[in-house]
Amino acid sequence: MTEKNIVILISGRGSNMEAIVRAQIPHARIAAVISNRADAKGLTFARQHGIATAVVEHRHYPSREAFDAALAAAIDTYAPDLVVLAGFMRVLTPGFVARYEGRLMNIHPSLLPAFPGLHTHERALAAGCRIHGATVHFVTADLDNGPIIIQAAVPVWPEDTAETLAARVLREEHRIYPQAVRWFVEERLELLPDGRVRVREADWPEQALLVPGVEAR
Ligand code: GRF
Repeated sequence: MTEKNIVILISGRGSNMEAIVRAQIPHARIAAVISNRADAKGLTFARQHGIATAVVEHRHYPSREAFDAALAAAIDTYAPDLVVLAGFMRVLTPGFVARYEGRLMNIHPSLLPAFPGLHTHERALAAGCRIHGATVHFVTADLDNGPIIIQAAVPVWPEDTAETLAARVLREEHRIYPQAVRWFVEERLELLPDGRVRVREADWPEQALLVPGVEAR
């Protein structure tokens, strides 16, 4: 297996980035962590772990196109096989998304296609959902949409607040994001003509994490 270069984009805390780094995925080289904010907490962890970091501040650019061009230039310095969006809070232009087609992943804190966009935990509570979760998907020009790679479900309890629910979902995010990256590195992800993703030789319990009480097949 050839080694894969991975660039991770963050905007803040970076706990998903941290989970991917800590997973020490064989044949995966975290080439750089790039942030659109100089004060992103996750940059400290990356530096402490000897990972190259860069900052491309969106507010220094007059348009989304100009920012995305500068961001792509910074990313391409590291010749990435995979670009991982990990709490990266900028909407990307279609040109940027097309440039990294099939090698750009995102994590979203809901069971897509439910609740694209912001405030997913509040919205899941307001809708009375009994089940909520997180999704890792390939990025397409459509916001928080695109071929689903892996999902994790969690129960919603009556006493939940957005914070307790977010924490339960985040624990699962830290489990499924490294798994998705591992599959990519192992070249097991196949984009089917109908737009779905097949995971070669995956065990289903591993792929679609189970809600309590549901038996594995
Ligand atoms: C995560 O919940 C992620 O799904 C969402 O933003 C949060 C980022 O957290 N897009 P972190 O920066 O990875 O800690």
